[in-house]
Amino acid sequence: MTDTTSEHLPVLLDETVAALSVKPDGIYIDGTFGRGGHARAVLAQLSDNGCLLGLDKDPAAIKAAQSLASQDSRFSIEQCSFADLTTAVSSRLWQGQVDGILLDIGVSSPQLDVAERGFSFQKDGPLDMRMDPDSGISAAEWLATADMDDIATVIKTLGEERYGKRIARAIVETREQSPILTTRQLAVLVDKASPSRERNKHPATRTFQAIRIHINNELEDLKVALDQALDALAIGGRLVVISFHSLEDRIVKRFFRDEAKGDDLPPDFPIRADQLNPRVKIIGKAIKASEQELAVNPRARSAVLRVVEKLA
Ligand SMILES: C[S@@+](CC[C@H](N)C(=O)[O-])C[C@H]1O[C@@H](n2cnc3c(N)ncnc32)[C@H](O)[C@@H]1O
Repeated sequence: MTDTTSEHLPVLLDETVAALSVKPDGIYIDGTFGRGGHARAVLAQLSDNGCLLGLDKDPAAIKAAQSLASQDSRFSIEQCSFADLTTAVSSRLWQGQVDGILLDIGVSSPQLDVAERGFSFQKDGPLDMRMDPDSGISAAEWLATADMDDIATVIKTLGEERYGKRIARAIVETREQSPILTTRQLAVLVDKASPSRERNKHPATRTFQAIRIHINNELEDLKVALDQALDALAIGGRLVVISFHSLEDRIVKRFFRDEAKGDDLPPDFPIRADQLNPRVKIIGKAIKASEQELAVNPRARSAVLRVVEKLA
């Protein structure tokens, strides 16, 4: 597999480092190493006593991280989902001691750019879409066997695609003739099944997003990771999350809001707001990319960064 572009421009880089409020001697976790843009910026703030653990599901990201780990003893890497954060943290005896955790969720540019990964409707390749191609089932395998109603639900809910039912029907009719094995086959099929077009958006955009999120269990992993991240943090530690679409951002926003509110008691319960045991304090407002950043990295357009600090 050729990784022709292996470039990934980290989004909201300065904002992320500022949000983590890096302590030189601190313990940090980058739960989505990718190509290490954010990780390198955090390492640049750490002293010789600080350390950073990177996680990623993707073997190509792990390879890039191993090269960094061989040059910098403050950095280590583990191939796992960020939904297994507790295991990674406990095995290092770091529970409750981590000073900052970053989750820059979604896909990396190399994942989209390498046709063989099967993430992109713009490049023809095997319909895979797994962040870790050695685990779980590929998009092609799922589409070959899934129930039409399940496919429709995934496309409608995870892609926010109003033609989910039509597209699911077209998938099932097509697979009865011949298997859907490539990204181009799926993109053409979705295009034909979509009765109308959105401006500046390929008709398969939403369907590809939906199938990718489903295949990688992205929203469930995010929910699990947010909770585990708060357990891992030291008091005063920061959790920084960058999300790329509304479904992810909604999960992050609600989780932060609920944890900042504290115990869920009836509104007339005789207790003051400060006695509700909030787990976190929300730091600032959601941050979006500046015009200057968008000029060099249009992919940052949908990025939203949110930050909380652990209180208890
Ligand atoms: C947007 S990229 C991160 C880019 C990175 N911040 C950088 O500067 O290069 C997202 C990365 O998270 C990884 N990823 C997505 N979901 C994951 C999960 N549940 N567990 C671990 N890694 C995940 C992807 O494989 C991808 O490499």
